[in-house]
Amino acid sequence: MAEKFYVTTPIYYVNAEPHIGHAYTTVVADVLNRFHTLCGTETFFLTGTDEHGDKIVAAAEKAGETPKQYVDRISQLFRDLWPKMHISNNYFIRTTDPDHQQVVQLILNKVKENGDIYFSEYEGLYCFGCERFYTERELVDGKCPDHLTEPTVIKEANYFFRMSRYQDWLIDHINKYPDFIRPERYRNEVLSFLKEPLEDLCISRPRSRLTWGIPLPFDENFVTYVWFDALINYVSALGYPEGELFTRFWPVAQHIIAKDILKPHGIYWPCMLKSAGIAPYQHLNVHGYWNVNEGKMSKSLGNVVRPLDLMDIYGLDAFRYFLLRDMVFGLDSEFSEEALVNRINADLANDLGNLVSRSVSMVRKYFRGNIPGQGNPQEMDDQLRTKTLDLVEQYQSFMLELGFHKALMAVWEIIGDVNKYIDTTAPWVLAKSDKGRLETVMYHIFEALKAISVLIWPFMPASAEKMQQQIGLKRYEKPISIERIRQWGELPFVRPVEKAPALFPRIEAKEKEKGPHVMQSNETPEAIKEMIDFETFERMDLRVGTIKAAEAIPKSNKLVKLTVDIGEERTVVAGIAKHYAPEDLNGKQVIIVANLKPVKLMGVESRGMVLAAEDDSGVHVLMPDNETVPGSKVR
Ligand code: ME8
Repeated sequence: MAEKFYVTTPIYYVNAEPHIGHAYTTVVADVLNRFHTLCGTETFFLTGTDEHGDKIVAAAEKAGETPKQYVDRISQLFRDLWPKMHISNNYFIRTTDPDHQQVVQLILNKVKENGDIYFSEYEGLYCFGCERFYTERELVDGKCPDHLTEPTVIKEANYFFRMSRYQDWLIDHINKYPDFIRPERYRNEVLSFLKEPLEDLCISRPRSRLTWGIPLPFDENFVTYVWFDALINYVSALGYPEGELFTRFWPVAQHIIAKDILKPHGIYWPCMLKSAGIAPYQHLNVHGYWNVNEGKMSKSLGNVVRPLDLMDIYGLDAFRYFLLRDMVFGLDSEFSEEALVNRINADLANDLGNLVSRSVSMVRKYFRGNIPGQGNPQEMDDQLRTKTLDLVEQYQSFMLELGFHKALMAVWEIIGDVNKYIDTTAPWVLAKSDKGRLETVMYHIFEALKAISVLIWPFMPASAEKMQQQIGLKRYEKPISIERIRQWGELPFVRPVEKAPALFPRIEAKEKEKGPHVMQSNETPEAIKEMIDFETFERMDLRVGTIKAAEAIPKSNKLVKLTVDIGEERTVVAGIAKHYAPEDLNGKQVIIVANLKPVKLMGVESRGMVLAAEDDSGVHVLMPDNETVPGSKVR
């Protein structure tokens, strides 16, 4: 693991108020930043706002303000939101900051001196929404794929960045460092784009058309193209070229973005860095989109999900947990308030909240709140310790590869294990019969709780600290590190555990009705009469699974036994033997109903069901059309 860690979010346009998408990226960056802090790494975390360009001018005009008044006001909304969401950024950059503008001009000069900027007349198809020229090939039915509008033909003289010069270097770099852009699907997307000749990038806009931008240092009649200006924030914020932060944190940078801005980050930015003589960043981490009502969020559709609304009702940490637990990093997710409530009630109130409150009340009752020593551990106590420490290690590897949902599943496995351990050891019986054994059991429960409280800290810092307070850990100046919990038993509990209110109260139905927080389209009751409601559907846990092994079940011509990876390993018995040979199933991806009650078929316990369609020609197993992360939820 690198000893230093530098994480960035995109700098958000100030033409819209913060929504769940901005909140997600920023919470991801925050979780990573906090996780690396727990690993003892020195970190720096940057976010900010992107304030130049046509879009901003148009939004300011619409609001009846000058661009400056407008950007000051909206930038402040982002700046005010992040502390409320416990975002631990070290710096907030604005592209209108004078220091940033100077660095942009410095880099433009460097790139020009390197012979990579030239002046030329150009006629092209321009999308004002994206603020860039499109090639015919990139358009879909002649329209911008993002804005679904026809681009305008613009002919003008402009400055160009000789990006084409770096195409071969970039392809080599991506091939040499396979995790330069991740997950893999986005790396492949960039590589496939680079199969075609790379065009040079128009990096200026004439002042006659746009004045709200950074003037080109070598021609006052032009301002800098907003993307060339914006990307540079990642180094200007560190005080490039000579700033102390720049020397410390470049090039270990990890950028977090969504797929919408893959091209500027995956192609323009590395080429710009190369041309300016700056080392490329370390990783570009690309996530999918939060969709609402199966589509993109947009003001005109009225389905914008506002983070503040949700935090106010459900609590900040529950919201943060949901964002990271319900989205598989890299894939799209559908936002639903029902799913959020279900997560709170099941994972937070039931699993974690109950575990803490039952443990706290037992130690208060049996030991006046003082956690006893370990006594003489038996095999099952050692098992709890080794399994917990093993899951801590798994959590760390999942976090490093951005598998946040898997890291949380590992923590919830510890929670499940401790709950089971309590049920099996039955401390309430030991209290009457074997005080010595009771001591050992309580000790192990609280060591595991300690680990849980540390592992949830990156995701839910306030609740983690509350939990640490409740279980009798001192409030340390620095958060408790992962190393401390690996030294099982080393960090002392320093005061009696406290009786305290539930960490995560259950959300009752009436609270759910406080909405609407997501505006819904009007549904006609007649049309939905015969249908199941969304909550009923949501109870089905459908997952993508990769078949790791398939074998015929002796004496059955219908059944085949599958070992399937759905984030965890499952045995599933499927009635498809007549249509598929076991060897043809190996390695295939399928859809599994993961929360079906287990059944025994021909003596084999099946924990799930494979989805398949049936017609006259036979049975056809449903398979995702692209390689998908095992365990991904199907909606
Ligand atoms: O593109 N789901 O700013 P922007 C998930 N200024 N994430 C989403 C999202 C969604 N539905 N919608 C937005 C810009 N995001 C430029 C960036 S960086 C040098 C310049 C998040 O305000 C996601 O991180 O349009 C996405 O990449 C970003 O907001 C786009 O923010």
